[in-house]
Amino acid sequence: MDDTDSYLLSFRGYNLERNLVDIDQLENADDFEIRDDDVFIVTYPKSGTIWTQQILSLIYFEEHRNKTEKVVTIDRAPFFEYNIHKLDFSKISSPRIFTSHLPYYLVPKGLKNKKAKVIYIYRNPKDVLISYFYFTNLMANLQATRNLDEFLDRFLDGKVIGSLWFDHIRGWYEHKHDFNIMFMKYEDMKKDLRSSVVKICSFLEKELNEEELDSVVKQSTFRNMKSDPQANYDQIIKGEIGTRTNDGFFMRKGTIGDWKYHFTVEQSERFDRIFQRKMKDIPLKFIWDINEE
Ligand code: A3P
Repeated sequence: MDDTDSYLLSFRGYNLERNLVDIDQLENADDFEIRDDDVFIVTYPKSGTIWTQQILSLIYFEEHRNKTEKVVTIDRAPFFEYNIHKLDFSKISSPRIFTSHLPYYLVPKGLKNKKAKVIYIYRNPKDVLISYFYFTNLMANLQATRNLDEFLDRFLDGKVIGSLWFDHIRGWYEHKHDFNIMFMKYEDMKKDLRSSVVKICSFLEKELNEEELDSVVKQSTFRNMKSDPQANYDQIIKGEIGTRTNDGFFMRKGTIGDWKYHFTVEQSERFDRIFQRKMKDIPLKFIWDINEE
């Protein structure tokens, strides 16, 4: 057993956060009753999860858009496998928004009815890795690393929550025909948030007028989310889970291509070689640089 094991719990070959996971929920996932209008936001960690939680909850609920109800994002779109606030999912009124980092083979079987929807958000994995490196060093419940080299090894070994990035995206992509699923890039959301929100609305079959759309977009920008206590996760990570220092944030930088300021040429080339080998038959497009079309 190496020291990462004390932070991780392996369930059917997939790593979860040991202290936060709701193991009963996972073990009984096959029998979890899915409603036709349920939506699952599925991501590998650090790919834009809380951003999408914010967007979807604003699209669906006027009371969040108007701020008449003050509910933190994690309760508006709770994690399926990390039910931190112990909500009774069966009592949540429809439409329910769930969030999950699970691989395709661990989500409730009912999602394969193809009526309930899945939105899979993915991000270029070099930016995911940098975001994850900072996050694991910030959070008291996650394994810290001394340097990027060490984290790179761990990420490429899949010894992190979410296991191997390559397996996560491949699994979901190759099984996309089993689900009513839309894939969306973090970078597209970053480059054109409004169009992305329109696309999401169309997938959700939810019509918003121009003013409502404006409000969703405005409240989902990095800057506005960072200063919004309901959206920035400060309460959860600092108040409830605990951080190692006070000067880090969940809403860290929110950019495309931050990896360029961190990877050495050697690290980048090593990553590229593995990426090309592992992803060669997956036609998803990736954006590595803000200036890329
Ligand atoms: P960085 O660490 O690169 O800043 P997740 O929610 O899946 O854990 O992803 C967290 C990452 O998404 C962080 O990336 C965070 O800053 C970024 N993020 C969250 N909200 C965002 C927004 N509105 N715009 C751009 N990036 C956002």
